[in-house]
Amino acid sequence: MVFSLFRRYLSMGRHSHTSNKVQALYDHCNAIFSPSSTPPPSSQALHKLSSILDTVQPSDVGLSEETTDDDRGHGFFGINQLNRAARWAQPITYIDIHESDSFTCYLVQMCIFCFPTSSVIPLHDHPGMTVFSKILYGSLHVKAYDWVEPPCTVESKGPGHPQVRLAKLAVDKVMTTPCETSVLYPKHGGNLHCFTAVTPCAVLDILSPPYREDEGRKCTYYHDYPYSTFSTQNGPKICDGEEEEYAWLVEIGTPADLYMRSREYTGPAIQL
Ligand SMILES: [Fe+2]
Repeated sequence: MVFSLFRRYLSMGRHSHTSNKVQALYDHCNAIFSPSSTPPPSSQALHKLSSILDTVQPSDVGLSEETTDDDRGHGFFGINQLNRAARWAQPITYIDIHESDSFTCYLVQMCIFCFPTSSVIPLHDHPGMTVFSKILYGSLHVKAYDWVEPPCTVESKGPGHPQVRLAKLAVDKVMTTPCETSVLYPKHGGNLHCFTAVTPCAVLDILSPPYREDEGRKCTYYHDYPYSTFSTQNGPKICDGEEEEYAWLVEIGTPADLYMRSREYTGPAIQL
């Protein structure tokens, strides 16, 4: 996901390691993610990236599980409230490791999200993007959907009659370390997801290409309604008992209570 508040941060000038996991990730990403005019990476190249991510530990990116804050939190909070002096719980912390660009083409972004217990990144999409997510420590509930194709939409009866679109559940589980890297793709693997921290946890994300609004890759948030909420004559046939695998998604604005702050990356430097 992208938040315009957070800008590119290149990890230069700190203690440098000639060999480290972040460098290995950067080097591999740099080799396989090319400008959009060239062929996409092979499945072998993507698998290798997952394999490298599988081995990453919190200390490899400058995190210490023991020192993470945990307020035993109470929900999620608003990025627009960052400047309020009085906070009653910890925010989600965003750490930008690296975002590469090649004149006009943004290719890859590496970042970390640190969650206090019960904090939530609401349901959102990754249009045209491939995202690798490696949980570094803790337990995270992941609920993810893919759009049903061809698109199936109905007009809701709510205020303004917004359109709702049918999506199919792809993931609905708690992931606890140690666990393998998960990958979502533009059309499958759970391109729309919601994260809820079961315990304090952290996720290392690699996005390619990153969000970029002027290229049509805008982060959109959604609310999901049970399948039974709306009906359509023209939609796909859903078998009895499978209704729970489907949901209607309606676009919403950026949740006002999504509370996130940025922090500087303190892990090993990347040699660009
Ligand atoms: Fe995401």
